[in-house]
Amino acid sequence: MAQRLVPRVYRGYFEYLYARNEDPWDYETREYERAKYERTIDSLDGRRFRRALDVGCSIGVLTRMVAQRCDEVVAVDTSALAVQRARRRLSDFPEVSVHRSTLPEQMPDGQFDLILCSEVLYYWNRDLLLRAWDTFESALAPNGVLLIVHGRFQSHTCPVTGDEVHDLVTSHCALDHTFSETKPRYRLDRFEKQSLADSTSEGLTVPSTGCS
Ligand SMILES: C[S@@+](CC[C@H](N)C(=O)[O-])C[C@H]1O[C@@H](n2cnc3c(N)ncnc32)[C@H](O)[C@@H]1O
Repeated sequence: MAQRLVPRVYRGYFEYLYARNEDPWDYETREYERAKYERTIDSLDGRRFRRALDVGCSIGVLTRMVAQRCDEVVAVDTSALAVQRARRRLSDFPEVSVHRSTLPEQMPDGQFDLILCSEVLYYWNRDLLLRAWDTFESALAPNGVLLIVHGRFQSHTCPVTGDEVHDLVTSHCALDHTFSETKPRYRLDRFEKQSLADSTSEGLTVPSTGCS
């Protein structure tokens, strides 16, 4: 795996793309994206979530679809222009808040029972990616789902490929790997944190509350 010295593709690159184009990856119009988004939502197996984190939400097209499955969505993007456009698109979804944050450093507080990383982790190099992954695992509530989906194309911009992201986190991960799909153009993987009940039944201890 090529390891670039720079840890990530920086914010300025994304601001430049969004300044030139309202929708740099044609998320609103491309049939390929629509079909991939539908597979992404389908891979949640019809579950509903209390609080979700959408990492790198861009202009909010996928965020809108996710929001229909969640009581609350925290959507974040490093680009101020993307955040502006996502807020506009999601203005009729009061349960969605959109923030300009650069992850993993500016990880929102609290726990999430869904964390979605769609087409974002390959912008980080191996070290940053693993650091971010550990942050996501810690922020995942018991029974929570961490869903990742990335294209399998070669890019001169990204420090790692989509396949490398999926291979790396699969071998690093402490969560249960509960679903995997490899299509010619993208990969989708779902990981889940055991519920507290599952972990105690396997002999792991839960800290005592001190109550008798
Ligand atoms: C290719 S777009 C993916 C958009 C969306 N998740 C989807 O699949 O439709 C990647 C987005 O991630 C954002 N991004 C890149 N690095 C980020 C970081 N460190 N923290 C937050 N957002 C980031 C970019 O600004 C860009 O909007």
